[in-house]
Amino acid sequence: MFYVPAEGDHGLPHDPFKAIVAPRPIGWISTLDGEGRPNLAPYSFFNAIASNPHIIMFSSTGRKHSLSNIEATGEFVCNLATWEFRDQMNQTSATLAEGDNEFDFAGLSPLPSRLVKPPRVAGAAAAMECRLLKTDPIAGLDGIPSGSIVVYGEVVGIHIDERFIRDGLFDMAAARTIARCGYMDYAVVDGLFRMKRPSGRG
Ligand SMILES: Cc1cc2nc3c(=O)[nH]c(=O)nc-3n(C[C@H](O)[C@H](O)[C@H](O)COP(=O)(O)O)c2cc1C
Repeated sequence: MFYVPAEGDHGLPHDPFKAIVAPRPIGWISTLDGEGRPNLAPYSFFNAIASNPHIIMFSSTGRKHSLSNIEATGEFVCNLATWEFRDQMNQTSATLAEGDNEFDFAGLSPLPSRLVKPPRVAGAAAAMECRLLKTDPIAGLDGIPSGSIVVYGEVVGIHIDERFIRDGLFDMAAARTIARCGYMDYAVVDGLFRMKRPSGRG
């Protein structure tokens, strides 16, 4: 089959785009609002885009609390979503009133961060403390604003639960990292395979 996304002529019950660009890692973003109230929400339009320095991005479909908090404070934490926290992660996607606390709502405890003010999720296998680089509203080819705003942040500190350091490596199969697929589907990392690059860097 072939379809033109702008025409929506896929003829399927749902646009398969998000099932094709999958699995997507989940940035489980904690922030503080201008009054210091915590907020936590998952974002799967999320990825690492540079490693020197470490830079990550996520995209907010419309203006949401995480975006406005980051604009207000310049800081956020990206917690790793794992199998153990799948239900809580999902619960923190609920739309709560501004200032209502998703940590409490999902039964999670906040832990202080080291270099930034927003807390991290207690028990998370890893958490990355980030400072805002820029926000970038994205327009389509027609020049019309898509309504999505990309947030770029530099990772200034990384916490790892040492239970998941094995032979000097972060063992994501032991941490059971989860990822977003299309529809209502998720993937869990419970197996890895290895390949050596023929040559080259990185
Ligand atoms: C697994 C998962 C991934 C999500 N990814 C995104 C995303 O990439 N962008 C987005 O705008 N919303 C995404 N959402 C929805 C937000 O989490 C939801 O709108 C949330 O209420 C936003 O919270 P906030 O207003 O506190 O930032 C996702 C939800 C789930 C469950």
